[in-house]
Amino acid sequence: MRAFVISEVGNTLALEVRDVEPVALDATDLLVEVDFSGINFKDVMVASAKSRVRRVPSLTGGVDAAGTVVASSDPELVVGTRVALHGGPFGVARDGGFAQFAYAPSRYVSPLPDAISTRDAMVIGTAGFTAMESILALQDRGLRDGGEVLVTGATGGVGSLAVTLLAVMGYRAVASTGSQESQWLLDRGAVSVIGRDELSDQPGRVLGTERWDGAIDCVGGATLASILRSLRYGAAVAASGLVASAEFATTVYPFITRSVGLLGIDSVDATPATRSRVWRALGEVAPSIDFAPLTDHVVTLEELVQALDDVRRGATRGRFLVDPNGH
Ligand SMILES: NC(=O)c1ccc[n+]([C@@H]2O[C@H](COP(=O)([O-])OP(=O)(O)OC[C@H]3O[C@@H](n4cnc5c(N)ncnc54)[C@H](OP(=O)(O)O)[C@@H]3O)[C@@H](O)[C@H]2O)c1
Repeated sequence: MRAFVISEVGNTLALEVRDVEPVALDATDLLVEVDFSGINFKDVMVASAKSRVRRVPSLTGGVDAAGTVVASSDPELVVGTRVALHGGPFGVARDGGFAQFAYAPSRYVSPLPDAISTRDAMVIGTAGFTAMESILALQDRGLRDGGEVLVTGATGGVGSLAVTLLAVMGYRAVASTGSQESQWLLDRGAVSVIGRDELSDQPGRVLGTERWDGAIDCVGGATLASILRSLRYGAAVAASGLVASAEFATTVYPFITRSVGLLGIDSVDATPATRSRVWRALGEVAPSIDFAPLTDHVVTLEELVQALDDVRRGATRGRFLVDPNGH
């Protein structure tokens, strides 16, 4: 089969399409024929020299894949089941989804709801899974119906899916972006769009004006600190990413005087119960979503090097799909 292989020997990083055989590593491994994969920011980090995210010197890249089970000993995931593969070691410590076939332990394989095609599953991908996990965490925390929710990094994978999902679920999504894509974000359902630099309010003070009923942040750094200062009393931010920075400085005041919450969101090691809850919730809203405009490009394995670079530079909008069978 054809696969996009990342290998690093000494100071030399190679990214190339090769003919390889899929390899099972775990007793619970399933074999899936891949229809589509999708590019995530994490894939950029895995495909970088001296990557701290990649755990092995050589592997097939791709932290996401969707397709059909072709070999399985799991009675819940029989041959013919349409599935999404993501999380755990997939595409990070063992071969991932940028290939025509992929093995993954059943723990990281989710059956797809009927309403979600394998293509749409990869428009959603880890990014959309993380966005829905964030919304469910805010709901568990008490997000009010129709509340105003800030989304940062809004044209990215997590951000654009968060805007789309919030809109179809009846919330008022305010999109924060550093791009010029305001109209595209309004078309995705945002009620308004603000610039990245407009987030900081009353910067000299420990607390800003109370603005948001909730927030979904994949940016981190000073952005996350600003959000904490501007959440309404009792509101929360669901934090999943670090595109700006892994570090941020805050005071305890938002927590002890406004009772705000900082909710950590992890999709990688989400429990089987969480995975099934999130995919079920995605299946419920999928019929209301127009997936086509969320797709920036569909690329072949040969086009992946350029596509990864586009994602690295933030020159993308929505999701890049990968068709491993395309030429
Ligand atoms: N916790 C988890 O399980 C989980 C799962 C998925 C992703 N993540 C993390 O979430 C983050 C986003 O992932 P993604 O796949 O959505 O990435 P992405 O598609 O590359 O989107 C990131 C977006 O952030 C904005 N951005 C880029 N550089 C920025 C900067 N220096 N300062 C502020 N904003 C910036 C851009 O949006 P605008 O141009 O619209 O501002 C960009 O499109 C990454 O850190 C990723 O590792 C975590």
